[in-house]
Amino acid sequence: MNNTSQIGVLGLGAYVPERVLTNHDLEKMIDTSDEWITTRTGIKERRIASEGEASSDLGAKAALKALEDAKVDPAEIDAIVVATLSPDHIFPATACIIQEKIGAVKAAAFDLSAGCSGFVYALAVAYGLVQTGLEKVLVIGAETISRFVNWQDRSTCVLFGDGAGAVVLGRVERGGILGFDLGADGSGHSILNIPVGGSREPITPENLAQNRHYLYMVGSEVFRFAVRTVPRTSRKALKKAGLEVGDVDWLIPHQANTRIIDAAVNLMGIESEKVVVNLDKYGNTSAASIPIAWAEAAEDGRIKRGDKLLLVGFGAGLTWASMVLEY
Ligand code: COA
Repeated sequence: MNNTSQIGVLGLGAYVPERVLTNHDLEKMIDTSDEWITTRTGIKERRIASEGEASSDLGAKAALKALEDAKVDPAEIDAIVVATLSPDHIFPATACIIQEKIGAVKAAAFDLSAGCSGFVYALAVAYGLVQTGLEKVLVIGAETISRFVNWQDRSTCVLFGDGAGAVVLGRVERGGILGFDLGADGSGHSILNIPVGGSREPITPENLAQNRHYLYMVGSEVFRFAVRTVPRTSRKALKKAGLEVGDVDWLIPHQANTRIIDAAVNLMGIESEKVVVNLDKYGNTSAASIPIAWAEAAEDGRIKRGDKLLLVGFGAGLTWASMVLEY
């Protein structure tokens, strides 16, 4: 065990919007079927933010639940790190909007862009902040991807959903974060992105007409990358924690696709009963998927305090991130 062992999770919470969009609802909107979506992805339904509800609204609700779980007052929070690929605005940071919403008056606040790996990246950054002197850091994954997908494009719109999850990180008596691995391969930046709307290609009537301001993905390449990456980064994080796959009580992978999870789990040799999967209900909520799955499994009693967890994310960038911790 290394000296990362004294910083851990004080509280955990998640929030998903009320509106449910099922595969059968999608059948009425585009040329798809429940059968195609279920067999190719495992997704049955997803949540969609209501009109006027933005990532900061979902993130603030998840944050308040995590603070309540931690019995920490918002005014005690030293920093807020929000992982998101669907921020309220290009700037200012969604974290600043959440800071105001929850009354975290003394908190520094910034966003982190690491795609679907964002939540684990943000946990690692928060770990560093606590290690260098801050006491309590709020880490949030918050997404309203429904605003950024083209609802005419069946190859992407069926995959994603909205939601948020949060943890409060601080000093713990025992356990906590035991090891992590972060990485990126920028040569894959163009296979999963939103091409238009940034400084590279500002919005014009022409590119709007071409729908290039929506999420773009080469699904098959992302799929191959994910299956390759999950076991590799997991092994690195476990090594840093001084643990073996067999020591893990629960694997909480990014919830993108059951076929990706099954293939990676097979390669890793981890029992499927130890894997938390809830993407059938929420689809891919990007940086929110790991904390939503974690909070749900903790709430229904599957995951208990003291359990050893392996969190693994992968996504746009391309990026990957894994972390081993004792909850
Ligand atoms: N409904 C029905 N048919 C669909 C469809 C839909 N929603 N989306 C695509 N299809 C069709 C395609 O048009 C294609 O038809 P064609 O063979 O006539 O051209 C066919 O299904 C197969 O498409 P393909 O893209 O090869 O399917 P796939 O087995 O690779 O599955 C994904 C597609 C997107 C489910 C899969 O590639 C994937 O999950 N990739 C990873 C995506 C991901 O997780 N991204 C986020 C990472 S953070």
